[in-house]
Amino acid sequence: MIQFKSNLNLETEVNPLIIGIFSDFSHQDIFQLDYLLNNKLLDSLNEGIISTKFKTVTPFYPLDKLKVKKIYFIGLGKSSEFTSEKCKEAIGKITKSITSNSTLLLETFQSPTTSIHELATLCAEAVTLATYKFDCYKTEHDHSEPVTFSIYSKTDVTNDLTRGVIYAEATNDARQLFNQPNNKLTATDLANHITKFSHDHQLEVQVLEKEEMKQLGMGGILGVNQGSTEPPKLIVAKYEGNPQLDEVTALVGKGITFDTGGYCLKPRASMDGMKGDMGGAASAFGAFQVAVRLKLPVNLLLVIPATDNVISAQAMKPGDILTTMNGKTVEVTNTDAEGRLVLADALTFAKQLGATKIIDLATLTGAIIVALGSDVTGAFTNDQAFLDEFQKAANQTDEYIWQMPLHPRDQKSIRNSDVADLNNAPLGKPGAIMAAAFLKEFVGDTPWIHLDIAGTAEAKAAYDLGPKGGTGVMVRTIAKYLESQH
Ligand code: BES
Ligand code: MN
Ligand code: ZN
Repeated sequence: MIQFKSNLNLETEVNPLIIGIFSDFSHQDIFQLDYLLNNKLLDSLNEGIISTKFKTVTPFYPLDKLKVKKIYFIGLGKSSEFTSEKCKEAIGKITKSITSNSTLLLETFQSPTTSIHELATLCAEAVTLATYKFDCYKTEHDHSEPVTFSIYSKTDVTNDLTRGVIYAEATNDARQLFNQPNNKLTATDLANHITKFSHDHQLEVQVLEKEEMKQLGMGGILGVNQGSTEPPKLIVAKYEGNPQLDEVTALVGKGITFDTGGYCLKPRASMDGMKGDMGGAASAFGAFQVAVRLKLPVNLLLVIPATDNVISAQAMKPGDILTTMNGKTVEVTNTDAEGRLVLADALTFAKQLGATKIIDLATLTGAIIVALGSDVTGAFTNDQAFLDEFQKAANQTDEYIWQMPLHPRDQKSIRNSDVADLNNAPLGKPGAIMAAAFLKEFVGDTPWIHLDIAGTAEAKAAYDLGPKGGTGVMVRTIAKYLESQH
């Protein structure tokens, strides 16, 4: 938990303190502490007992006039080289190692170029992200009271802290959804989760069932669901934050609750992580939550096609031909290229519901991991100005995106089928680009960004701002982009 503290009385404070320390510390306003420590602080710094090296933590035990029995110093390196990313990493690292209520001195993390308000938001975000855990199925998980972080600043930063917490809580919710295995999170469960949030915030929400999908001709999502006993859901939630404006941004997220590959079955090792094939849905919903909770003046449509991709005698077979909602037919040359099939109908539906701009997110291709690794999200667009704006938001949140090419010749490749309009997985072509080219067939002229988060939705190891598992990638960038709009 995070709370703002406007007063710090060092004669009475008992909480351990968290203090950031730059290598050029002489300008830092921490030397009121020094007289209480009988000049031990300056001595310890000069002797290097307290390290100012970036992300090095030095626990310090004052013996003198202070009631505080422990101070954690965390090195921040040179103040001129300090960035928002480094700040979050340092705060993430220190909060992960703390087990009791403590007081963080916000000003000590301030470099000459950041405002205290921005810093407060960063700090609240970092603390909330770093303390996320997925331990709800451990019968002996930690039942102790959550640690309270008191953030002390001379300036009132209450609102800034709240903003940071909202950004991070939505990211953590996306992580939580990602981390739930399929037996704990079916398409129905995902629909219930989003419905509950929508009802709690008096938003319009609609969950389309299989029968309605049949009437609407959603052959893509129905095809993928065909082998399953779990019903598919098409989840649509609406947020009208600016009714005067005709612009509506659709957030469309791939919601495959488990991807076995279908009859083009994945080998065992490649099935690891496929509980997270709804990471796009999770992040789209996370960004939606931020907009709603911050009451941003934008209109949003959340569109989530949700189903598993499994096999049975009824399942889709290689070579099957599906008719999607916009009338285009698809030869399913690979049942494992299922994400684009469900997204095809979701994109068509989003347009039909009035979307004037679309951002889709999907754990779509292994190929994007080969191209960009697991720290960089692949971005595709049909509208350069739109992606340029989005890039600015990504620069602010320290989430990396990299634009991938999409050329008219790629549309030719995706249309290369002897029997249908489209081929869902042309052989010998670049995988991530083919997936994007397939989606592009369904967006038409509507300004569109496609984010392939197959590499970035999951962390293979713990990091300063979170544990191994779902990352909630792009929640903050999309929210920041929406905030920049008006
Ligand atoms: N969900 C996978 C993509 C994926 C791979 C996500 C690794 C996260 C980690 C997607 O449905 C898929 O199977 N894609 C295939 C497409 C191919 C058959 C054209 C792939 O990338 O191999
Ligand atoms: Mn697949
Ligand atoms: Zn998939």
